[in-house]
Amino acid sequence: SADVGLNLTDIQGDILIGMKKNKELFFFFTIVNSTLFRSQLGSGILPLITPTSQLLAVDTQPTTAVNVAFSQRGLNALGITDDLGDSSFANGQIDNVATILGDETSNWEPVFAGSGIHGVFLLASDTIDNVNATLSQVQNLLNGSITEVYSLQGQARPGDEQGHEHFGFMDGISNPAITGFSTPLPGQQVLDLGLFLLGESGDPVVSRPAWTKDGSFMAFRQLQQRVPEFNKFLVDNALSNPNLTADQNAELLGARMMGRWKSGAPVDLTPIVDDPVLAADPQRNNDFNYTHSGFDIDTDQTHCPFSAHLRKTNPRAGLTPEDTANHIIRAGIPYGPEVTDAESAANVSSTDPTLERGLAFVTYQSDIANGFAFLQQFWANNANFPGAKATPPGVDPIIGTDGLGQADVSRNPSGLDPNDSTKIITIDQDFVVSRGGEYFFSPSLSAIQNTLAL
Ligand code: HEM
Repeated sequence: SADVGLNLTDIQGDILIGMKKNKELFFFFTIVNSTLFRSQLGSGILPLITPTSQLLAVDTQPTTAVNVAFSQRGLNALGITDDLGDSSFANGQIDNVATILGDETSNWEPVFAGSGIHGVFLLASDTIDNVNATLSQVQNLLNGSITEVYSLQGQARPGDEQGHEHFGFMDGISNPAITGFSTPLPGQQVLDLGLFLLGESGDPVVSRPAWTKDGSFMAFRQLQQRVPEFNKFLVDNALSNPNLTADQNAELLGARMMGRWKSGAPVDLTPIVDDPVLAADPQRNNDFNYTHSGFDIDTDQTHCPFSAHLRKTNPRAGLTPEDTANHIIRAGIPYGPEVTDAESAANVSSTDPTLERGLAFVTYQSDIANGFAFLQQFWANNANFPGAKATPPGVDPIIGTDGLGQADVSRNPSGLDPNDSTKIITIDQDFVVSRGGEYFFSPSLSAIQNTLAL
């Protein structure tokens, strides 16, 4: 259903539809020889870059999909002096930490706080061997003009957990539909292309360098997940529905914190028990907006808490008019191994760095301050959002922080108990820990050819 005006052969594939592979390597690099890099980029690398058009049909999909994106420092290294019109991108993610994102920088991988990250290759395939083979090909072509500064190997979880993030919840269900590109499923909001691609209709920044058209800003975050601690919290704070077992009451708390059951079924549609059939039905699993006849959307939390991650990051009909400016396309993938028996027995995440797990979080938007950074700052981290409630909803129980850079500040969501929406369940630890990240620009293929390459 692609719009005739949209050139899908020119737009990098991860932006609008995601590379949808089970393995994805994020390979962060420094450009050490700009001239050599620029000449190899056009001749050798460009033919390897996977556009959207190639991902749309199974028979054109490459064995390994490749995308590339650059930080502001990377553009500087290439001698590009244009202002892309996004100060978050220009200043880098570290500049957003203290007042906007609320990370504790002591938890950051030092590389994200340094100045060495010029760009990132995204390499996605069915096997790590394929990914590594393509990485060698890229490195041979670049012939020493880049050096690796960091890499993160993403991988889908095994077996039945495929598609689920590490806490166990199905992910990747609610992304927006886009005018002129996708046919909306029931309940899916349709948004302007310019919210995601620069220079397209609805881009909030009117004047950008022409070559940035059909590129997108990518926010990357390495978000560690403390899974045994999360599971223990659910058991220790299980709800008290008399018709449910203790395990089911723990599961209900988790579902209400997330806004969906582990299967993906939205609690707004099935508030007490999971419904895997509903979860698996794309015609129904996103078809809700928190309104119910006989209930007041401004006060009702019996279906879904105001503080639920899903409702915090997209309140749907809870805002009037419905928000059309602050949306992202999510394209992340889990990283790290499954929880070990020793970790589950101890209810504590191992300190062994090889056992770190989490989400290699990726979002695309045309304006970072309206997209990812807005959702984190003004919605997830804002205890009073949505506003004008008798009891403040509290920060997002999954990703919110009200510590703004301080350690050990407890979080106080309300609404999690369907029988007493004023009750606050104190969370005195973080289940998601930001290990840092960076903002990148993912250019069109023609921009790579005509502007970035020599
Ligand atoms: C939806 C998990 C971080 C924004 C979801 C869903 C899950 C989830 C399970 C429901 C699946 C779906 O609807 O597609 C997580 C985990 C995170 C994380 C485990 C961290 C490790 C973030 C961050 C943001 C974010 C940092 C933005 C600041 C969203 C949005 C939705 C969503 C916008 C869709 C809401 C909707 O349209 O109804 N997340 N998430 N998530 N998440 Fe997250």
